[in-house]
Amino acid sequence: MNTDDTRELLREIDTYVEDLFAQSDEILEAALRDSRRAGLPEINVSPNEGRLLQLLTEIAGAWRILEIGTLGGYSTIHFARALPYDGALISLEIDEHHAGVARNNIERAGLSEKVEIRVGDAHELLASLIEDDEGPFDVIFIDADKESYPEYLDASLRLVRSGSLILGDNTIRGGTVLDPKDATAQATREFNERIARDPRLFSIALPLIRERIDGLTIARVL
Ligand code: SAH
Ligand code: DHB
Ligand code: MG
Repeated sequence: MNTDDTRELLREIDTYVEDLFAQSDEILEAALRDSRRAGLPEINVSPNEGRLLQLLTEIAGAWRILEIGTLGGYSTIHFARALPYDGALISLEIDEHHAGVARNNIERAGLSEKVEIRVGDAHELLASLIEDDEGPFDVIFIDADKESYPEYLDASLRLVRSGSLILGDNTIRGGTVLDPKDATAQATREFNERIARDPRLFSIALPLIRERIDGLTIARVL
């Protein structure tokens, strides 16, 4: 099979799984629609990955979640739906416009009580979370600027407990991690290697089909 045929087949498989398991609802559709209308980049997780994140969070029995990189709140809604009634999610976002769109999407989803969006640079917000002893979180989802993933991993390791999950999005990047040619791919590769080698973690990188092949790195704190 040539590359175009393979790409088409991957797309059909992704759609097959989505139609079967991850049928959208009005709230998720509206979140994507309003994000698009507000000019946000369409770099949210896919419906299938969102479903996977929700399932992992439910399996983990998570009560407190930290998300790094909110965008329009599409992934946030999946995570917050996995929380019990008294659960809480803090999401960090540098862009005030993104945060505003996300707050509206989360409000419409009826999840505002559980979700707090903090606006600022995640480096600084993470330092405050550590300083103020706001951990531990049961699930941490790293999905902001890719160059900072190794630093976000360091901070995350200070905000977890035994049994927590640390999840990293976009960790295969079309295969560019195999032979990194830019800082983003290099940082992503370093992130995966550090997770793989860290004796405090049990982990895997899971390739996922999107418009191109990307992946989710999943680590459980021992
Ligand atoms: N989790 C979202 C997608 C996040 S896209 C979803 O799947 O629905 C990445 C987001 O990280 C963007 O909104 C971007 O503004 C934000 N971001 C980039 N650099 C950041 C930083 N240094 N601190 C906080 N957020 C940042
Ligand atoms: C990009 C960022 C993401 O979080 C994502 O899921 C896909 C792409 C990006 O910056 O290109
Ligand atoms: Mg992402």
